[in-house]
Amino acid sequence: MSANVLEIEGLTKRFGAFVAVAGVDLGIRRGSIHALIGPNGAGKTTCFNLLTKFLTPTSGIIRFNGRDITALDPASIARTGLVRSFQISAVFNSMTSLENVMLALQRKRGESYDFWTRKSTLSGNRAQAMDHLHSVGIAHLAETEASDLSYGHRRALEIATTLALEPEVILLDEPTAGMGIEDVDRITRLIHDAAQGRTVLMVEHNLGIVSEICDEVTVLARGRILAQGDYASIAANEEVVEAYLGGGHA
Ligand SMILES: Nc1ncnc2c1ncn2[C@@H]1O[C@H](COP(=O)(O)OP(=O)(O)O)[C@@H](O)[C@H]1O
Ligand SMILES: [Mg+2]
Repeated sequence: MSANVLEIEGLTKRFGAFVAVAGVDLGIRRGSIHALIGPNGAGKTTCFNLLTKFLTPTSGIIRFNGRDITALDPASIARTGLVRSFQISAVFNSMTSLENVMLALQRKRGESYDFWTRKSTLSGNRAQAMDHLHSVGIAHLAETEASDLSYGHRRALEIATTLALEPEVILLDEPTAGMGIEDVDRITRLIHDAAQGRTVLMVEHNLGIVSEICDEVTVLARGRILAQGDYASIAANEEVVEAYLGGGHA
């Protein structure tokens, strides 16, 4: 088996005449935490949208475990084990934390899933759902409705619902955006723990987090890869520093 769980070749996305992602070649090593960083507008979210097929690539190939998945639809991609947190694993406000994770487990089992699933139809898997809540540190909030959770707890719940799907690769787009320092630390630990036995590709602006938990860093600027390597080599790269300062965002 290849060392890379995910391989991207020549990935390109045009919006009219504008090229948001311009021929990106990228290999994501199995078992790594890989950061995608770069100034605002670099094309990071667009890359995620292409990987999950929320957007159709203009050209390029995406391989998952050696299989060309470029033509699959979003649901099929999720079923292969490539799951984007905070979207596919949407949290429903009127359900409790526990019910949300039970719903995700139900999806994982392939049972019918639609927005109107009634609470009363959610059965079984309660213990397993509690385990997931434990692992993200919110078991004590099992009976709290998602709408009543703090921002940090809600994101923890989103990670729990993602983990319930047992993804092989998790995509996280700015998981700590808008968080206070305490929540940032909690979510950072959670991502680190959740990465055991799987692969994480994350967009993260907080370079402290990147240096702390990421094995590999790819820097994107204007839709192209500017640099790649471990954090130390990236931090020492003058072009990278310039792109960040030039982009006015770090
Ligand atoms: N649906 C779209 N239509 C037109 N332009 C888009 C669309 N989505 C993103 N863009 C443009 O593509 C560029 C990259 O955006 P994005 O991937 O969101 O950047 P990042 O996540 O790195 O901040 C930006 O200039 C953005 O305005
Ligand atoms: Mg973005």
